[in-house]
Amino acid sequence: MAVLRVVLLTALLATALADDATFVNCSDSDAEVCQVSAVRITPCRNPGKSCTLKKGTDATISFDFTPNFSASNLKTFVYWDSGTADLPFVGFGSDNACTYTTCPSVAGQAQTLNYSLHLHKKLPSGKFKLKWKVWDDDQKLQSFCCFTTDIKLNK
Ligand SMILES: *[C@@H]1O[C@H](CO)[C@@H](O)[C@H](O)[C@H]1NC(C)=O
Ligand SMILES: *[C@@H]1O[C@H](CO)[C@@H](O)[C@H](O)[C@H]1NC(C)=O
Ligand SMILES: *[C@@H]1O[C@H](CO)[C@@H](O)[C@H](O)[C@H]1NC(C)=O
Repeated sequence: MAVLRVVLLTALLATALADDATFVNCSDSDAEVCQVSAVRITPCRNPGKSCTLKKGTDATISFDFTPNFSASNLKTFVYWDSGTADLPFVGFGSDNACTYTTCPSVAGQAQTLNYSLHLHKKLPSGKFKLKWKVWDDDQKLQSFCCFTTDIKLNK
């Protein structure tokens, strides 16, 4: 019993420290093509709800995904899902994903992407739905991983 309690406590603690963020699979993503299993935002005030991030500070977003495709060139893009359109989110943008994760990706093998960024003071305040995409750059968007997560930017 005592051992179990320690194990449970350790598991709970590990979860709390990991700053797991809630996320949703994109409606146009295909579980047979790619599965996102966890998203972490550090620091995350308000974990379990929308992470609240302070402008003018640095944040790290990392997520685990298992692509069902092998690709030597991965690209990533962060959008702001406004509800009616996907707009490029100022300050994030498009990038070579291989800078932040292992390349080449191997089909069926889980990998982590770590992205550190500075939240510029000039970013707008408020709630945003961030849409994160990673895709096989040699195939143009046919094979992609995608999730959305809500964040709140505060002064
Ligand atoms: C995303 O999709 C995968 C595969 O269908 C599923 O296992 C997982 O629970 C989904 N996650 C969320 C947060 O909806
Ligand atoms: C990977 O893709 C193939 C077809 O492209 C499919 O048959 C298989 O079920 C997929 N694997 C997973 C884990 O979704
Ligand atoms: C991402 O960060 C985690 C934890 O800090 C680390 O274990 C992992 O190696 C990093 N992965 C990459 C691709 O940098």
